[in-house]
Amino acid sequence: MSKPILISGTQPDGRLHLGNYLGAIKNWVELQNSEKYECYFIIVDYHSLTVDFNPTEKKEEVLGVVRAYLAAGIDPKKSKIFVQSRIPECTELAWILNTITPLGELERMTQFKEKSENKESVNTGLLTYPILMAADILLYDARFVPVGEDQLQHLELTRTLARKFNNKFGKTFIEPRAILSKASRVMSLDNPSKKMSKSHPETCLFLDDPPKDIEFKIKRAVTDSGSEVKFDLEKKPGVSNLLLIYEALSGITIPKLEKKYAGKGYGQFKSNLAEVAIKTLATFRESKFSDKKLKSILTNGAEKAKKIASSKMQVIKNRLGLRV
Ligand code: AMP
Ligand code: TRP
Repeated sequence: MSKPILISGTQPDGRLHLGNYLGAIKNWVELQNSEKYECYFIIVDYHSLTVDFNPTEKKEEVLGVVRAYLAAGIDPKKSKIFVQSRIPECTELAWILNTITPLGELERMTQFKEKSENKESVNTGLLTYPILMAADILLYDARFVPVGEDQLQHLELTRTLARKFNNKFGKTFIEPRAILSKASRVMSLDNPSKKMSKSHPETCLFLDDPPKDIEFKIKRAVTDSGSEVKFDLEKKPGVSNLLLIYEALSGITIPKLEKKYAGKGYGQFKSNLAEVAIKTLATFRESKFSDKKLKSILTNGAEKAKKIASSKMQVIKNRLGLRV
C-alpha cells in the first residue's frame, strides 16, 4: 500500500532561524526518517515575492534553503525537494481556488493583518497568499502538513477549500491535517509575547549565526523577575521560552532541566543553553554542498513533482468541465 503524502515548505526570503528549525524542519526530518510518509519539501519562491526582495539575491536564497534542508537531515533519496515556481500547475490551481474563496476569509487571516499593519498600500499577493499555499498542498493530495502554529489558520482555509470544491464539483481533494512539533511557537528572545521572526534579526537566532552571536543573543534574552528557572508561561514567559528551546535542542525534558538548574540562577542556565545551541547549530555553519549538487537535487525533485501535478491538474480540469 502506498504511504500517505506529507508536504511542507519554507519561503526563501533570507536566512532561516531557530523558529523555522524547531517549529518545522527538525520535525520534518523525524517524520521523514519514520519512513511512514511520502515526503515533499518545497521552497516556496512565489510566496516570497509578496514582501520586498532583491532579484539578484533570490537564487542564493533558494539555494540557502536547500542547503539548510540537507544540513538538517532532509535526504533527497528519501524525500522530494523542489522549487514551487518550477511547477506551474500550482499557480493554475491557485487561480481556480481563488474563485471559491470568500474574500472575508482572507481578510481575517492573522498573518495578513500583521503584514499589512500600518502600510499605506498592500499588494494583493499578501492577501491571496494562503490560496497559493492551499494549492501547494491540494495539488499533491497531501494528508499531513507539518508546520509551526502560525500556519494553522492557513491550513484550516485549505481544508475549507477542499471541502467546498468537493461538494461543488465531486470528490477531488483530500482534507489535510496539521502536524505540530512541541516547539511549534518559538518566541522572540527579547519579547516573549511575539514570535521569533527574521524581521527582528537581533532577537532571532539564525541557523548559521557565528558562535559569538549565539552567545551574545542568548545572554541578552529577556528573563523574568525572580531568579528561578521554572516553566510558567504566564508568570515567566521569557524563561519558559528558553526552556522550550533548551528542551527541543538537547532532548532533555523541561522537568529535568528545572531540577538541574534549581537554585543556580539564570546566568548558568543561559550560558549552558548557549553552549547547547552553538553545538547543535554547528551542522548549519559547517555543512558544505556545491551549488551543482543543490541544483541537481532540485531538477530531480521538480521532475517527480511535475508528473504528479500535471496528472492531478487533468482531473481538476475535468471536474470543472474545462477539457473540451
Ligand atoms: P516561513 O519562514 O514563514 O516560510 O516558515 C517556515 C516554517 O517555519 C513554517 O512551518 C512556520 O510555521 C515555521 N515557523 C516560522 N517562525 C516560527 C516560530 N517563531 N516558531 C515556530 N515555527 C515557526
Ligand atoms: N505559508 C508557509 C509559511 O509561510 C509556507 C508554505 C507554502 C507551506 N506552501 C506550503 C507550508 C505548503 C506547508 C505546505 O511558512
